[in-house]
Amino acid sequence: MSSQAERFEKKVTTQVLREMKARGEKIACLTAYDCTMAGLVDAAGIDVILVGDSVAMVVQGLDTTVTVTLEHMLYHAALVRRGVERALVVGDLPFMSYQVNVDDALRSAGRMVKEAGVEAVKVEGGEVVCEAVRRMVRVGIPVMGHLGLTPQSIHSFGTYKVRAREQEEADTLLRDAVLLEEAGAFAIVIEKVPSELAKEVAAAVQVPVIGIGAGPHVDGQILVSHDMLGLYTRFHPRFVRRYGSVAKDMQDAFCRYKADVRSLEFPNSDESY
Ligand code: KIV
Repeated sequence: MSSQAERFEKKVTTQVLREMKARGEKIACLTAYDCTMAGLVDAAGIDVILVGDSVAMVVQGLDTTVTVTLEHMLYHAALVRRGVERALVVGDLPFMSYQVNVDDALRSAGRMVKEAGVEAVKVEGGEVVCEAVRRMVRVGIPVMGHLGLTPQSIHSFGTYKVRAREQEEADTLLRDAVLLEEAGAFAIVIEKVPSELAKEVAAAVQVPVIGIGAGPHVDGQILVSHDMLGLYTRFHPRFVRRYGSVAKDMQDAFCRYKADVRSLEFPNSDESY
């Protein structure tokens, strides 16, 4: 087998994710917004890298994801794509780039694939986006769904509390997951819902269900990299496990650098020409 073919064999595709679910192998997903971070995430063997519209909060310093534009997402997705060899790269379609009509959705998704090089897009919502999902899939663009606490709807929800605790909302979510699968979605993210509901959803569909704040009984997990690294510390949801204290490490490094500059410790003779 040629080395290019070998590389392709190792590449994560939507088919690989489906096989992982069938084998009961959990899928590990993280976000990235630039080439350096994406390269590190990819080298760690993470299966899916999402260029999330959470970029609004953890990079742009905003309070919600709703103001992110398609141009912002194209920019960040192109940076990420450059750093990744193995993981499946999924790009978030931002708020109002796919909801007005199916043509808009196709154009937005097409730009993410052609201009930024992502291999799939993610959209939020259930039945309401299914027509767009069907068309995107039919033209060859894999689509990941997103249900539960969908941050683009924060102004409707009015709160970041756990979703679908009530039976009616839980029934709708379960139905939406089935409809997304029927429309051709290759995976579904479910965010901040009770574990038992997430378990039911994962059992109801063949496609992988990726949880964030949705407990352990799903087919994989996703976290925002800046949250799990302890780099973004403005708030700390209960579902985020911190695997680092990067904000603290960076702050310490900046302080030590400043002290060295002030005291003429930096640069020394080895660091000079
Ligand atoms: O934008 C994002 O990072 C996301 C994940 C939290 C799933 O949608």
